[in-house]
Amino acid sequence: MSEVQIGKNVNLEKIQARIESHIDTLSTYTATPGRGTTRLTYSQEDLLARQYIKEKMKEAGLTVREDGLGNIFGRLEGSEKDAASVLIGSHFDSVPNGGSYDGPAGVVAGLEVAALFTENGLTPKYPLEVIALIEEEGSRFSGGLMGSRGLVGLLAEEDFKSLKDKDGITTVEAMEKIGLDSSLPKPRNPKTLKAYLELHIEQGPILEEKNIPIGVVEAIVGLTQLEVTVKGKAGHAGTTPMDRRADALVTAAKMIAQFPELAAAEGEGTVVTTGQLQVYPNGANVIPDQTVFSVDIRSGKEEHVQSVIQKVKELADSYHDIGMEITVEQLLYIQPKEMNKEIVSLLREKSNKLGFPSCSINSGAGHDAMVFADYTNTGMLFIPSKNGLSHSPEEWSDSRHIAEAVHILFEAAIELTEAE
Ligand code: GLV
Ligand code: MN
Ligand code: MN
Repeated sequence: MSEVQIGKNVNLEKIQARIESHIDTLSTYTATPGRGTTRLTYSQEDLLARQYIKEKMKEAGLTVREDGLGNIFGRLEGSEKDAASVLIGSHFDSVPNGGSYDGPAGVVAGLEVAALFTENGLTPKYPLEVIALIEEEGSRFSGGLMGSRGLVGLLAEEDFKSLKDKDGITTVEAMEKIGLDSSLPKPRNPKTLKAYLELHIEQGPILEEKNIPIGVVEAIVGLTQLEVTVKGKAGHAGTTPMDRRADALVTAAKMIAQFPELAAAEGEGTVVTTGQLQVYPNGANVIPDQTVFSVDIRSGKEEHVQSVIQKVKELADSYHDIGMEITVEQLLYIQPKEMNKEIVSLLREKSNKLGFPSCSINSGAGHDAMVFADYTNTGMLFIPSKNGLSHSPEEWSDSRHIAEAVHILFEAAIELTEAE
């Protein structure tokens, strides 16, 4: 038994076993059993995961509530009246056919930190809140980071209500279907937030290659998501000569094929991805009259994100004179974000004290932490991802590393909540 203690009762083996049980259970709430986790926001799988998380929050002695977005909060009350809260958590939605750890690892870490508070009989001065956020991935309603953006007031009520999934179902209708109340309050006064801590899997190869269990995140890349709509003209696949076509799919394909070069020319690790493409009317013998595709652009430097947006727009304009109508809509834009320096030092200090090797790391993935960073003192921990894989059924992380991160977060949370 390698039990590490600094005054508090922390049994890493026990925590590790509970983490595995949480992750295994949550991974069964998938619409694609055997083909990874597919848990779209406000789906039946969301409902099952939500019920499990709420039950575990209650078992950890927390008072549970949901907001008008369906974010879940489990609160351990503070001894000081109306004090701001220390939030720990992540998201519990997934990409289509994703893994079991992207998001849930951080929610589960929050649950275990709260359980340690209760087991050690600690009373925080500032409330501790475990938080499970919706729609970070944007897999159902596009854009992403919806739970955190809504929580800090960056998503207007009207905009939230107007969002629809690919079947035309609105956010409000989807919430009602699983018994959620969209009329509950959404934005929260930033004064009620003292800090936000998030554990996440790295989703890349660095920690595994270095054989270091803990990454203390310094900064998160800037990113944007564009939706490009190409309009051409439908026609018969057999009778329309090749030189009389305005084929929306061929034009989209030509554009998309240029993105790798565009990203390489921009340099400094700039990445551009098209992961969604819809073709209309989607008939094998019909020339497509419309295509809609996503463009995800990321870089540690905002100027590169801006420059690629401009180039995508110029590329779109260049097809106008051959009869194509192309519009570019920006669904999400978020600048690169630095984590709070004091939280970074605190997390580093706790890792050192507990004897867990750590290093500084930057995040190429987007996270709810980048939204919270403008509103409260925010920090993140990463743990290694096997073979650097994520957004894949093969995504895997070691529950021992999650347990170690829980221990660090527990010690950090004691300090931030001034618990005794
Ligand atoms: C979330 O996984 C993102 O980086 O888009
Ligand atoms: Mn993700
Ligand atoms: Mn994630």
